[in-house]
Parts: sequence; C-alpha cells; structure tokens
Amino acid sequence: MNRIDLLLYNIGVLITMQGSALPRTKEDMSQVGEIHNAAIAVLDGKIVAVGTEEEVRAVITGLPILKQIDAEGKLVTPGLVDPHTHLVHGGSREHELPLKLKGATYLEILAQGGGILSTVRATRLATEEKLYAKALTSLNTMLLQGATTVEAKSGYGLTMKDELKQLRVTQRLNQSHPVDLVSTFMGAHMIPEEYKQDPSAYVELVIHEMLPEVKRLGLAEFCDVFCEHGVFSVEQSRQILHAARELGFGLKIHADEIVPMGGAELAGELGCISAEHLIAASDEGIAAMQQAGVIAVCLPATSFNLRLKEHARARSMIDMGVPVALSTDYNPGSSPTESIQLVMTLGCLNLLLSPEEVITAITINAAHAIGRADTIGSLEVGKYADIVLYNATNLAYLPYHFGINHVHTVIKQGQVVVS
Ligand code: NIG
Ligand code: FE
Repeated sequence: MNRIDLLLYNIGVLITMQGSALPRTKEDMSQVGEIHNAAIAVLDGKIVAVGTEEEVRAVITGLPILKQIDAEGKLVTPGLVDPHTHLVHGGSREHELPLKLKGATYLEILAQGGGILSTVRATRLATEEKLYAKALTSLNTMLLQGATTVEAKSGYGLTMKDELKQLRVTQRLNQSHPVDLVSTFMGAHMIPEEYKQDPSAYVELVIHEMLPEVKRLGLAEFCDVFCEHGVFSVEQSRQILHAARELGFGLKIHADEIVPMGGAELAGELGCISAEHLIAASDEGIAAMQQAGVIAVCLPATSFNLRLKEHARARSMIDMGVPVALSTDYNPGSSPTESIQLVMTLGCLNLLLSPEEVITAITINAAHAIGRADTIGSLEVGKYADIVLYNATNLAYLPYHFGINHVHTVIKQGQVVVS
C-alpha cells in the first residue's frame, strides 16, 4: 500500500455489518457492527482500513491521501442492495388504480388479461432503446435512494426475442451505469396469451429453448419462476427450476405471494438461494426454508400497494431462524416504487422489524440473496467501497422520518456518484 485514494472521516455513526460470512438470522440480525467517530480508507475501489478514526489513521499513517471527505458526524452505511426488481419493462399501469379502488384484486385484474399481460404487450412493442431509457431513469432513482447493487429480472417479453431484448438492456445498463446489476431470467413470469390454451407448451419452450439460449449468451445468473394460482403450478415451477439448475443457474422463486400453494416448501426442497414474497407461506414452508438455508426476500411495498390485509411473517421467520432480506420488488403493477427507503419504513411498521434488522435485510442479507456477499453488503477490509452517507445521525431516524430521501452522498467502488 503506497497511497490512499479516499479517506472518509468524521463519521458520527458507522454501520459496518462486519463478520457476515453467512446470511444473518435470529439475534444476529440486530448486530450491525456500529462504530462511533469512525473512518474508512479506500484504495483501488476497495476498503483497506475501517474502524474508529484513530485506528484508521494509525493504519494509513505517512501515506499520501488523494481525496478526503469530511462526513460531518453523519450516519454511514454500506451501499444498499435491492435484491428483487423487475427493472426493465415497457409502459406503466396507473389505469389499474381505479379498478383497485373499486375492490378488484391483483389476480382478478390478471385473469381479465390486464396486469402482467398488459405490461407484456407494452414491453413487446417497445424498442430496446426505449426500454433502456426507461430503465435508466429508474436506476438513477434507485441510486439516489442509496442502492448501489440491484437485481433485475426479465419476464415481460415471454418470447425468445423479447426476453433477450430485456436481458440485453440489463447487460448494457450494468456496463454503463455505476449501479451494479445482477441479472435473473424470468421467462416463467406468466403464461403468454398465445399459449393460454396450451400452457405446458410454454413450459417446454422455457425449458428447452429459452433457458439454454440465455445460458449460452451469458445473459443471466439466476432463474426465477412465478409460482402462483393461475400462473405456474408447483409442478411446473419444479420442472423449470430443475432444468435451470442443470444448466448452472442459481434458483429463485416467487412463492406463496397471494395463495398458499406450497411454494416455500418447494424452495426448501430445491435449496433455492431465495424465495420471494411469502405473504401466504405456511409454517411447514417456512420450516422447510429454514432447514435448507433459503433466504426469505420479503417485499412490504407490494403488500402495501396491493392493499393486502396480510403481510409476510418476517418477524416469525427471523425468530424461526430464516434469514430475511427486504426489497422494493420495483415493477409497474404490484410495486411501482424504486424507493428502498420506503421499504425500510414498511419493514419496520408493517413487518415489525427493528431498524437494525431492516438495515441487515437490505445490506448483507440482500447481498447473500444475490450471491454477492463476498464483495458487497458490509464495510470490511477487502470489500468494495460502496458507501452511503445520510442526512441523519442515527439509524432509527431513516425509517422513522418517512416518505423523503435521506441520502446525502453515495460512493460506488470508491468514487463519489451522488453528492
Ligand atoms: O413480484 N408477482 C409477480 N411479479 C411481480 C408483479 C408483476 C406485475 O404485476 O407486473 C411481483 O409482484
Ligand atoms: Fe417480483
């Protein structure tokens, strides 16, 4: 070490999440590694020293420091990780709002050919450039909210051509934007209208044509399936995820979002890296996830926006030993918001998580849920210097003062990208 590229000093409260080799659950979700009067030193985009300011200055003593930032006593956390989004899609669905207010449910709107299917029509009609421009705007919003790594699913194309179009947008954004994107293929998001009479032919298409092509082109790391009443059955989901595993994809599943179907049980059986939604997950399903080490990705903005009376039982999941992550589920239907900070508030007020559990859920546990915990999700020597500074001096202030953006500065791999 012959220099320091960046020294961030005078940090009032630093949340490090140190010591997070495994996803956290139970009381470990409350251990956020808080350090007062702290500092972080960065070289080549990675952290080379972190601790109290005294400790860090002792480690880097005598070295030239290229840039220094005075954190002015602020709260600082690892870059936030949003592990479940449908970032790339055409159009929007505000026309569903009056239907919802009249009492139409998500599955009713979907059964009438609206919902996901209307976004599929808009996505098929959109050019790649148009999808890129729209997703870029959302990604910028996510970054302003403090997200430095975001997972993005396909699933609004539902033809080979249109799924690849969505996935290429994710790939291009990942190459050009400071936010790192992790790509998931979700061709099994819905049975497209043209396969309505023969859903198993669509399952065959996903398994035998789409999955191998996505793999060949290296366009996605994970495969996800919407296992839901009227969408993909448990057996169809099992077949698709088996095929994906054979090809080397990591496995994710939208499980038990609305109807208790046995999706959480399937996630346990297959050893998925994560199961998402879980609002209607059974006790047996949660136990199966716990045994297999599946991470629960809970999406409180979705249950809020769907006006569901029930929420995912994140509190019991944590008490039962399931690691919980939180995410926006950003999509044009069930969760039209990029705001990970709103999710923090809903995580506290609707899922009854503490601010410490919430920050764990959107940093290190979210990083584990997308297979990135070796490089991000905590502020530790050797990890990327993805760092957020807030206009706040303690953690609880973030979920407490809601509906506004608390972010002051975002640093991505040692570079200031929002200030
Ligand atoms: O995660 N549940 C399935 N997929 C999305 C919603 C997609 C849509 O309504 O466009 C979700 O909630
Ligand atoms: Fe989703």
